[in-house]
Amino acid sequence: MHEPASASVLNAAAQAGIATRPALRFLTCGSVDDGKSTLIGRLLYEQNLIFDDQLASLGRDSKKFGSTGVDHDYALLLDGLEAEREQGITIDVAYRYFATPRRAFVAADTPGHEQYTRNMATGASNADLAVLLVDARKGLLAQTRRHAVIASLLRIRSVVLAVNKIDLVDFDQTVFDGIVEAFFSFSRDLGFGEIKAIPISARYGDNVSSASARMPWYGGPHLLEHLETVDVEDDRAAKPLRMPVQWVNRASSDFRGFAGTISSGRVARGDEIAVLPSARVTRVASIIGPSGDVDSAAAGDSVTLTLADEIDVARGDMLVAARDRPQTSDQFAAHLFWMSNERLFPGRSYLMKIGHRTLGATVTDLKHRIDINSLSKLAAKTLALNEVGVCNVSTASAVAFDAYAANRETGAFILIDRYSNETVAAGTLDFALRRATNIHHQDQAVSTAARSALMHHKPAVLWFTGLPGSGKSTIANLVEAGLHGRGIHTVLLDGDNVRHGLNRDLGFTESDRVENIRRVAEVAKLMTDAGLVVLCSFISPFRAERRMARELIVAGDFLEVFVDTPIEQCIARDPKGLYRRALAGEIKNFTGVDQAYETPEQAELHLMAGVKDADSLANEVIEVLTARKII
Ligand code: ADX
Repeated sequence: MHEPASASVLNAAAQAGIATRPALRFLTCGSVDDGKSTLIGRLLYEQNLIFDDQLASLGRDSKKFGSTGVDHDYALLLDGLEAEREQGITIDVAYRYFATPRRAFVAADTPGHEQYTRNMATGASNADLAVLLVDARKGLLAQTRRHAVIASLLRIRSVVLAVNKIDLVDFDQTVFDGIVEAFFSFSRDLGFGEIKAIPISARYGDNVSSASARMPWYGGPHLLEHLETVDVEDDRAAKPLRMPVQWVNRASSDFRGFAGTISSGRVARGDEIAVLPSARVTRVASIIGPSGDVDSAAAGDSVTLTLADEIDVARGDMLVAARDRPQTSDQFAAHLFWMSNERLFPGRSYLMKIGHRTLGATVTDLKHRIDINSLSKLAAKTLALNEVGVCNVSTASAVAFDAYAANRETGAFILIDRYSNETVAAGTLDFALRRATNIHHQDQAVSTAARSALMHHKPAVLWFTGLPGSGKSTIANLVEAGLHGRGIHTVLLDGDNVRHGLNRDLGFTESDRVENIRRVAEVAKLMTDAGLVVLCSFISPFRAERRMARELIVAGDFLEVFVDTPIEQCIARDPKGLYRRALAGEIKNFTGVDQAYETPEQAELHLMAGVKDADSLANEVIEVLTARKII
């Protein structure tokens, strides 16, 4: 999480010696209309932390947009953007820095709307405490439970259950007790350390920063008092050194410094460190801070380190304590919080960003989804927006990591869609899977080049893609016959045939198609290793998997062949009668009818199969192979 640079409040508070405890990072969450923004606004107001000019403009704004009918609508202090105000919602994470004589605070205010739950996860990623707001009239809602689950997933230990709008239920203790009891029984397995329940009225200030006289039955602290005194030790510096390298600084030919922010632990000049993943060991020669050389630095500091030995270190590598190293693995058990409208496809290659490293990653096995109301495990093949699941993840190469439970800095990651660049999931690594250890690449005496020399032609993959009935298999067949006649060693993999054997277990859901193509691409790769020209004829409707296949094969040896037949013609041809049945609703998930076909954007060959006959198209393909000197 990156905060605005205005951490100066914290520094000022520290310098004035007023903050004897470490600053408290907390986030407020809850369903829309539960009163989060009002609560923080009220806190700031009661602590005189609002400047006069802001107050004057608040008075004006409250008359214009306010929903409270009282003098000031405190929520308006926080909802910065005009557009948001007019819609009456908060849509981003707003950070507030403030300090009281007893403590400095960083408050993250996140939206309550379900579609913005991802922002809540952003706000929670380094918070110490979550204030979970509940509307006393409504009790626990699905969104309240969801936020509690995410807070627990992100290892927030301390929770305040703020039962708000208690004035609207006549300050009734039984209502409060009922909600508290429901929350305790719900959250029993969420691993929270301390849960403090406080009845409040954010609008009128009851138990916000002074004890309310209207609830004599409540003997606990008011909210601010609890926030000022709650113990949430920042123990990052006490953990082993972890520093992901953000940037390699080559200021001059004899200077190489490694810049980044220390995630955890401390480092001093002369310390022995290891560079991961290469595992080379060296010593720290110097530490450069914002204003010059320093002897040591700790978690949270941004520094540049120079090393005693010349070792290759790249952006994304991690500098760690040599005697207390993280694990490395390429197979993990992980929790995922899905944040995209597009569902998760197990088997699809996403980009994982962990620390400053970005690499390919695949969810190999979705174990289960977590029902956010009952916390029970549900069987699941995919995750949709705002769902939480437990899965196995496989990365393209080994990653240095700590289990999230041990280190929130080095155990968290995000997944990014390769096409849209959208962040689709936030995840935490639970542990490394040891299933496929001790597997090494075996050196082979006969190389791919040697095999292909014997065959007198290069290996290649011709990947035919197109709608059902577009003519892929017909053209691929003709191409193969033509190549065979020229003495080329070929093999033809065809959707219908492969689905009778290797992929007999797969159907036509989106995730099964992803897996179908993944397996076929791996087989095609093995066959190019054997030196063959491999013709693959699959609908392969998704760009992501066609790209995955392309990336498996040596650059230049993969040719995507788009068999472009207008769907009306495919329907008119309907060689297997499947369109007719799909259009009649008898076959589900039929490409072009009720499932998408994503048109290729970078196909090497674009065959206009609607207007040309199959023989001339097959010749086009063979000509391209000749022109590219594959045959
Ligand atoms: S892919 O989408 O996973 O690449 P593939 O090419 O292997 O599909 O298989 C497509 C073949 O399966 C079609 O030629 C058709 O004969 C048959 N088929 C059966 N049901 C469907 C369906 N729902 N959608 C598409 N093809 C289907």
